[in-house]
Amino acid sequence: MTDKTAAAAPDDDTPILETTGLVKEFRGFVAVDGVNLKIRRGHIHALIGPNGAGKTTCFNLLTKFLQPTRGTIRFNGRDITRESPQRIARLGLVRSFQISAVFPHLTVLENVRIALQRGLGTTFHFWKSERSLDCLNERAMALLAEVGLEDHARMVAVEMPYGRKRALEVATTLALDPQLMLLDEPTQGMGHEDVDRVMQLIKKVSANRTILMVEHNMKVVSGICDAITVLARGAVLAEGDYATVSANPVVVEAYMGSEAAACAEGAVQ
Ligand SMILES: Nc1ncnc2c1ncn2[C@@H]1O[C@H](COP(=O)(O)OP(=O)(O)OP(=O)(O)O)[C@@H](O)[C@H]1O
Ligand SMILES: [Mg+2]
Repeated sequence: MTDKTAAAAPDDDTPILETTGLVKEFRGFVAVDGVNLKIRRGHIHALIGPNGAGKTTCFNLLTKFLQPTRGTIRFNGRDITRESPQRIARLGLVRSFQISAVFPHLTVLENVRIALQRGLGTTFHFWKSERSLDCLNERAMALLAEVGLEDHARMVAVEMPYGRKRALEVATTLALDPQLMLLDEPTQGMGHEDVDRVMQLIKKVSANRTILMVEHNMKVVSGICDAITVLARGAVLAEGDYATVSANPVVVEAYMGSEAAACAEGAVQ
């Protein structure tokens, strides 16, 4: 708690997250190449780009699953470049768990309760008393209500349809009380109905929070994102709102097939 109070800067225009010259090399291959990102507080910000552009690597750098080769990362104005993943999460920068991290054979409620306990850290054991357990249940039910899963609390996670599993994943992330939530392809592999549902869910949970998401579905990007950064070959290609970015010919070209892009290059030479 004290971490967050000390780090929060709610009234000013400091970006909640800012990277400067972020580089990640894998044995000489540059996957992220001098990325400067500015994420505004309260925004839903999309990171888009063709396959292999470096989006997931960027996420891994931001959440400290990977150490950058060069560059700095600031969260709420504070340099977090060398912090541990656990510490980053405690400061309020939380990446949504992948579906595999949901315990499939536990109930929806149990999954959220475990996430809440994890958020409390290992040094607190007060939930062992029955009254504290009730408190935890209450908080877990409130989170389930927030993502529209209150009627699924007793269901075993594995039995839920795909879109609802994503909602559970969001609930377990919210349990860690994030200021900035990172979502990597939240609508991947979904049909229309689930995409719409998850889109509305992201919009809903974005109130009082900031969201950075990797998203391929342009309907989602144009529908709910306030700002977009386009990555290609590890570098920032364009930035702005959807209208600006989608009208940029360089962006259009990056999304065309490699054949068309090669033709375009040939024409320039
Ligand atoms: N651990 C690694 N070792 C070596 N190369 C890697 C590693 N991780 C990623 N890469 C390479 O870095 C580049 C960027 O990969 P990344 O997964 O970040 O792309 P992405 O934008 O998330 O793509 P996608 O849209 O397919 O998810 C790719 O060329 C990938 O092969
Ligand atoms: Mg990826």
